[in-house]
Amino acid sequence: MKNKRSALNANADYRVAQKVIHWLMAILIIGDLYVAQKFGGVMTDVDRFESRSDHATIGTVVAVLFVLRIYLRIKHGAPPLPTAMPAWQKTASHIAHWGLYLLIGVLIATGILTAINANSVVSPFGRFPLSDGSGLESNFLFFRNIHEFITNTIIALIAIHIVGALYHGLIKRDGVMGRMARFWKSEKAVKRSNA
Ligand code: HEM
Repeated sequence: MKNKRSALNANADYRVAQKVIHWLMAILIIGDLYVAQKFGGVMTDVDRFESRSDHATIGTVVAVLFVLRIYLRIKHGAPPLPTAMPAWQKTASHIAHWGLYLLIGVLIATGILTAINANSVVSPFGRFPLSDGSGLESNFLFFRNIHEFITNTIIALIAIHIVGALYHGLIKRDGVMGRMARFWKSEKAVKRSNA
């Protein structure tokens, strides 16, 4: 086991802050999807308008975490993938990860544009109104359709991401999943055990 991990790489982990943000974003995006799943159906105006602000509040927290995450990714990078991993898998992994970043950025941007064009006041935290409720319906529907399309694309990419993580964690057992999931062993300890 130790040899397998030693062969992995010298700096086997993401920073703790990167891991915390990863899991917080995962939980919040699922929560926001839960709030949003009813938007496609029939709702009373009061419920819809309040839910829009609730949804935008969670989305705003996701947006702040997203900016922090990109900053930390650029500053600290990501630990290298196992040398034994086939080149096509490394390429697929990079495309999937940067694709997710790109799509989350577009999701947030189209969410804000949808809110700006809404026919109700959409106010994250009840304090930062993005609209006065006088938006044009055609603009609202335009951005909302893209927002929904990007949501569905992200759900598909997240499913692939989870399958990939489980493949590494349960089948290959090469430590790749632990780089984001392992909280109980510090980076330093991992480095020492690799030395
Ligand atoms: C965290 C990531 C987000 C996810 C996963 C997400 C997902 C969704 C989904 C699935 C819908 C329903 C689409 C439909 O059925 O037509 C929706 C609608 C909407 N979203 Fe988001 N969204 C996110 C972020 C945001 C942000 C940051 C804002 C604004 C600040 C926002 C504002 C809206 C608005 C105004 C609607 C339309 C509500 C309505 O149809 O009445 N979203 N979102």
